Amino acid sequence: MSANLVYVLNGPNLNLLGMREPEIYGSDTLDDIAGMLEDRAQELGLEVEVRQSNHEGHLVDWLHEANAEGAKAVLLNAGAYTHTSIALLDAIKSIKVPVIEVHLSDPMTREPFRHVSYVGMGAVGEVKGLGAQSYVVALEKAAKL
Ligand code: DQA
Repeated sequence: MSANLVYVLNGPNLNLLGMREPEIYGSDTLDDIAGMLEDRAQELGLEVEVRQSNHEGHLVDWLHEANAEGAKAVLLNAGAYTHTSIALLDAIKSIKVPVIEVHLSDPMTREPFRHVSYVGMGAVGEVKGLGAQSYVVALEKAAKL
């Protein structure tokens, strides 16, 4: 059991944060965000495990792993898979660990194809539209679970 461990799982193209459409996603890199999360986690008495993959199945496997590890929560920014992946929804529904959906931007104010969230159909909560701070606020939510 890792009752203080929070997995922070990031999907496709989030490895390019910092240079990827900075007018939408900001200038922080994923490493910067990981650093912010580690600092806040320490204050909250938590540990974070930050990962990124461009492959849907890796995200599914990591959700299963978080469950097997008895993690406290998963923060999931599934990137574009948010809007397409029934496999991720099924994984979220298959595990006991609560999942919080995270987005840097607010997909609801963007193109209509971003308005559907399969992740959101299984998640216990969401934080979006705050840039890198979305992750920190989501971690604070996770601390209260
Ligand atoms: C995103 C929003 C998604 O629509 C998009 O596909 C991403 C990033 C966000 O963090 O704002 O890759 O998840």
